[in-house]
Amino acid sequence: MKRQTSQFQYIEYHRLEELSESQRELVLGAMDAARKAYAPYSSYQVGAALRLQDDTVVTGNNQENAAYPSGLCAERVALFYAGARFPGQAVTSMAVVALMNGSPQSAPVSPCGGCRQVMLEKESLDKQAIEVILYGSGKIWVINSAQDLLPLPFQIDTT
Ligand code: THU
Repeated sequence: MKRQTSQFQYIEYHRLEELSESQRELVLGAMDAARKAYAPYSSYQVGAALRLQDDTVVTGNNQENAAYPSGLCAERVALFYAGARFPGQAVTSMAVVALMNGSPQSAPVSPCGGCRQVMLEKESLDKQAIEVILYGSGKIWVINSAQDLLPLPFQIDTT
């Protein structure tokens, strides 16, 4: 028997001005996308903004449906759109913002398990770590890699 440990480090900021200009641009892009989300059932609007390796910014937001499971999270809308429109382009950074009844909450929004799985697969596919910026009005977390958010992930070895 061997006890194993898994831990990761991330940075916590408190104000948007503490971020770099390119990180701020992504957060503002995610905020703008969140405002345009279609979330009439949860009133929880989420926006995601991705920076691709050629500096293109791609955004997405959550899209809900009366048949509940048919909706999709903002992160996956953005990642799948990037995969469809810009195949082969790695994602270098991603920001996520959530609005509850139109206002950001103090705590950062943290991607759901399904989105983490999709973020991780994109990272593995492109062999490029995705910096993850999770925004809250009181705290902003910057994580080095999607892998940090999903230890011991499900993966199929295709080699
Ligand atoms: N949602 C996201 O867009 N991203 C997440 O990481 C978690 C949840 C959406 C799904 C649903 O439209 C609403 O937030 C409430 O769960």
